[in-house]
Amino acid sequence: MKKILVVHGPNLNLLGEREPHIYGHTTLGEINDILEDLAEESGFSVEFYQSNHEGRIIDFLHEKRKEALGILINPAAYAHTSVALRDAIASIELPTIEVHLTDIHKREDFRRVSITKGVCVAQFIGEGVESYKKGMQALIKFIQEKEIKP
Ligand code: DQA
Repeated sequence: MKKILVVHGPNLNLLGEREPHIYGHTTLGEINDILEDLAEESGFSVEFYQSNHEGRIIDFLHEKRKEALGILINPAAYAHTSVALRDAIASIELPTIEVHLTDIHKREDFRRVSITKGVCVAQFIGEGVESYKKGMQALIKFIQEKEIKP
C-alpha cells in the first residue's frame, strides 16, 4: 500500500493537556486517528512518528525516505529553529506539507518565521485539527496528481 509519513515534533505528545487554551483539547492519538481514516479512504497507509529530539526526527526521515510517497509534518518549535530539519526535508525529495495548529504569524515574534516552510510544497496553519486535515488532503491530491502521467 502507498505510504504517507506523519511526523510530529517536540511537545506535541502532550496535546490535549498542553496549554489547551492555545492548542485545544484534542489529543495526538485522536489527531492520528482522523488522519489515518482520511488517508485510508484514498488508499494510503500512514506511519506516524513523534519525537522531542531533532536528530531522531531527521534519522526517521532518512530511514523511511524510500518507503513513502510524501510527508505531513508539524515540526512544532523546530520550524523556527532547525536548519538541519530543513536540510533533511530538502535532501530526501519527498513532497512535504507543513502544518501548525495555531497561526504562527499572530503569536510571538520568534514564531513568525518558519525555516522549514521553504522546502515544503504547502503550509496549513491556524485552524487547529483542521490544519492537519487540510494538509493531509492536499498531500494526497499532490501525490495523486503527480502519479497521473498525461
Ligand atoms: C505549533 C506552533 C509552534 O510555534 C510551537 O512551538 C508548537 C506548536 C503549532 O502546531 O501551532 O509546538 O507547531
